[in-house]
Amino acid sequence: MEKGQLVYEGKAKRLYQTDDANLLLVQYKNDLTAFNGQKTSMEHGKGALNNQISSILFNVLRNEGIPNHWVKQISDDEQLVKHTDIIPIEVVVRNVAAGSLVKRLGLTEGETLNAPIVEYYYKDDELGDPLINDDHIELLNLVKQDDLTRMKELSLRINLVLVNYFKMCGLRLVDFKLEFGYDSEGSLILSDEVSPDTCRLWDVNTNEKLDKDVFRQGIGSVEETYTKVLERLKGVVSHG
Ligand code: TMP
Repeated sequence: MEKGQLVYEGKAKRLYQTDDANLLLVQYKNDLTAFNGQKTSMEHGKGALNNQISSILFNVLRNEGIPNHWVKQISDDEQLVKHTDIIPIEVVVRNVAAGSLVKRLGLTEGETLNAPIVEYYYKDDELGDPLINDDHIELLNLVKQDDLTRMKELSLRINLVLVNYFKMCGLRLVDFKLEFGYDSEGSLILSDEVSPDTCRLWDVNTNEKLDKDVFRQGIGSVEETYTKVLERLKGVVSHG
């Protein structure tokens, strides 16, 4: 597969054209940002770790019937994906109180929620990705209401799959962020990545934080932490 022109560079990934108009090559970067780009770093090995972790998880999701953009991993830090027109909404699913939910509602970090919570954020860096609801989404015409309903259903199904999968790895899936888009046939599919950059993962026994919070809070090494996640995922994959 030919690596063509750079078509987009985001905070964590570069997208390149390929010789197939329907496929993009994604290169995962070592750059890490937090707090809407206010805190930045370069973390050795991070791109390769997230590429491998996201590849394993998208493959798991595919096998569970979740349509998604991932095609295959092609090198340590590169993967092929289906071209997707991204819907500018970040869907966050939460199982345990943490992060902005704790700040916004005054909950205690670590409280298990009675049922998963789904939130929407408007993907707009200038506005700081504000929290939005169904009515805001309709007002801004970000996606049709029936596709929003489908995004919510898919997000909750993805949550079930990932909670169980991470549990086998000794990890609690506290919360995570998803992005959806349309493939070239107009089907709604899961896109972007699922990695310790976009999930909160705690050790089930010790509550040790094994995700980007080690960078946000300055409490550990990103490379060591993400390596632990990859090793645990590989352990489950190789043992069936
Ligand atoms: P939050 O508690 O800061 O709102 O984050 C909820 C989840 O979403 C957490 O797992 C981290 C993830 N997330 C992203 O992937 N990108 C973002 O820009 C933000 C703010 C959160």
